[in-house]
Amino acid sequence: MSDKETHILSANTAGIEHAAAILRRGGLVAFSTETVYGLGADARNDAAVARIYAAKERPSFNPLIVHVPDLETAQRYATFNDQALRLAETFWPAALTLVLPLRAGSGLSKLVTAGLDSVAIRVPAHTTARRLLKTFDGPVAAPSANPSGRISPTTATHVVNGLGGRIDAVLDGGTCRVGLESTIIGMTGAPTLLREGGIPVDPIEQCLGIELARAGSDITAPGQLLSHYAPNGAVRLNVTDPKPDETLLGFGSVETELNLSPSGDLVEAAANLFRLLHVLNENGTSKIAVSPIPNTGLGRAINDRLIRAAAPRG
Ligand code: TXA
Ligand code: MG
Repeated sequence: MSDKETHILSANTAGIEHAAAILRRGGLVAFSTETVYGLGADARNDAAVARIYAAKERPSFNPLIVHVPDLETAQRYATFNDQALRLAETFWPAALTLVLPLRAGSGLSKLVTAGLDSVAIRVPAHTTARRLLKTFDGPVAAPSANPSGRISPTTATHVVNGLGGRIDAVLDGGTCRVGLESTIIGMTGAPTLLREGGIPVDPIEQCLGIELARAGSDITAPGQLLSHYAPNGAVRLNVTDPKPDETLLGFGSVETELNLSPSGDLVEAAANLFRLLHVLNENGTSKIAVSPIPNTGLGRAINDRLIRAAAPRG
């Protein structure tokens, strides 16, 4: 998958407008934030978000952080209770991510939230990131801009070394000041520390006047996080010959109304996955058969998700 030329863009007006144009057409741009470089895509565009997973070769669909320029914009995508508002008003822009209830009709790709009803949002402080977000004028999904399992990048050179040839551009805003990912606080229930990071816990607890709950390691493990998003129906995998009472979730040239990608394109299949699982729920489908999906590239993440969906329910 190294077939693109990765442009290195300077963090001036021309570079930022170029980067925003790439995001608008569904491309991938790595950009500097104060924590680490993020690999950005339009968070409303399923195919663009699928390309993030493809470029990183992520073996599973972890939900991604949505980056916005300010609190007002964040409120389009998530609901804030008083405690969440207090944190946002006190700290943002900062290396602080809040996991909040997803607003109905947010327009965000289900691949960004991994189908959850919560969303992680951050207002970054870095000038380049802020200028890009304002110019693009939309929500940007961005995990760290490194291949899966490798160290997070803190310079444009790190990004090119890891992802050169797989992404459209890197917006070079220099070396990241914090150099460590954002602190993540879960705000969908009792405020909970989900990940230690760039903002220490003490000032957050002082701001809230309470001690944060500590997530057991199981809450942040993707399997646990995603388990409540299995479809309601029973799932059977690697099916070439569905039974008469099963609905086929297809891949490639098979006869079905619900096809992840009729042409057998894994990026398209990833982009459609959560949407079609929702359709199966909306249709009240009780028995789901899934076509075989090649276990290469993005196919690994798709199969990881489907294997969880097919696992016996507790
Ligand atoms: O500093 C950072 O946070 C960087 C820069 C680029 O902003 N981004 C980053 O993203 O570290 P990423 O994708 O590597 O980490 C996202 C983390 C994951 O551990 C994921 O599980 C958690 O955020 N997360 C995202 N949405 C969530 C949700 N709805 N509930 C719980 N955890 C969530
Ligand atoms: Mg990372």
